Amino acid sequence: MISLSSIAVKTEIYESANSLVYRGINKHDNTAVILKVLKEDYPTKAELTRYKQEYEITSSLNLEGVIKAYSQQDYQRTLVIILEDFGGESLQKLMQESVGKYRPMPLSEFLCLAIKITEILGEIHAANVIHKDINPGNIVSNPETGQVKIIDFGISTRLPRSNPTLKNPNIVEGTLAYISPEQTGRMNRSLDYRTDFYSLGATFYELLTSKLPFETTDAMELVHCHIAKQPLSPSRVNPEIPQAVSGIVMKLLAKNAEERYQSAWGIKADLEECLAQLQHKSTISEFPLASKDISDKFQIPQKLYGREAEVQTLLAAFERVASTRDRETVGGQKNVETLHTTSLQSKITPLATTGGTPATQWLQNQRHLLQRGEPPQRSGSKIQN
Ligand SMILES: Nc1ncnc2c1ncn2[C@@H]1O[C@H](COP(=O)(O)OP(=O)(O)O)[C@@H](O)[C@H]1O
Ligand SMILES: [Mg+2]
Repeated sequence: MISLSSIAVKTEIYESANSLVYRGINKHDNTAVILKVLKEDYPTKAELTRYKQEYEITSSLNLEGVIKAYSQQDYQRTLVIILEDFGGESLQKLMQESVGKYRPMPLSEFLCLAIKITEILGEIHAANVIHKDINPGNIVSNPETGQVKIIDFGISTRLPRSNPTLKNPNIVEGTLAYISPEQTGRMNRSLDYRTDFYSLGATFYELLTSKLPFETTDAMELVHCHIAKQPLSPSRVNPEIPQAVSGIVMKLLAKNAEERYQSAWGIKADLEECLAQLQHKSTISEFPLASKDISDKFQIPQKLYGREAEVQTLLAAFERVASTRDRETVGGQKNVETLHTTSLQSKITPLATTGGTPATQWLQNQRHLLQRGEPPQRSGSKIQN
């Protein structure tokens, strides 16, 4: 247990590889506080920076639905963040402890909770912050007061207004069972606030069904599932879950961000429609989803539209290059590089595999050879180092 002069530390409530969390009382004003301690005797500079960033983002978000960060203190060689305690517990804990009420959650309670969480997420996004780790462990609820708050901005990102996307991540951050396909870093896609909608979908899925979209605990298999597998819809897991509610969750879990909801307000509107129907007629009929889903963020789709002629020209060129040894046809480094770096690559990759070597791999090989001043190879051959 840690010891601080200004806080009486009471109980430990959580321990992970990175953090220790305690409940305590601020001796000056007798308020309840939460202490989050970076659990390292000798934390690295990067770990300290990340904790400082967590404090900076949390304390800058002055929102009712975001936990308040009161202060940050050095403690021995590590750091403590002092947070608000509003008597809540994480949804994860509540699901584990009160089996009857939270596993699975009654529909009306789920809808009320889901509306609150979605609204908070919308406010966080409006402040240009992507949470990046939405899951039941990072949503805290006080069932007695009905208050809900989002915590743990440990891997969150604040984005500039002008360019609200992040480049394709090269390390996997987040909680794997809830992580979006693009956040796995294996999708050649940049990241934006819609990553949180996927994790929100996985969270809703669990609240409704007591199951995860993908139940495997194997990390690589989970990543594969998020990228390539369709989860069973909540209404297939439990036929009592209305199609409309199930549809909302499945839309959030779409692999492509473009096919998800584009705004928290659009999600909230559909959840509110479900709740209104449930309250008025005790059932929820199907209705067209996302009719109020208008994003205030400018997004350039990462999919290519209306470029069929160019795609065909490039594919034809690729086939020509692939089927000849003629260096002139290959066209030298510039063309190969253009082919390789263009976003059309994502279209070509699944379409063109020649002689068993995927196209991008082949193109990479060609570039490698050209860089070494060697003639390019036929598409079936592999690079020799
Ligand atoms: N303000 C809080 N109120 C209640 N519980 C909290 C609070 N902050 C953290 N916790 C508990 O501690 C756990 C871990 O906190 P979190 O900030 O998510 O740490 P980590 O970065 O290790 O995931 C949460 O899942 C929750 O159970
Ligand atoms: Mg957490």
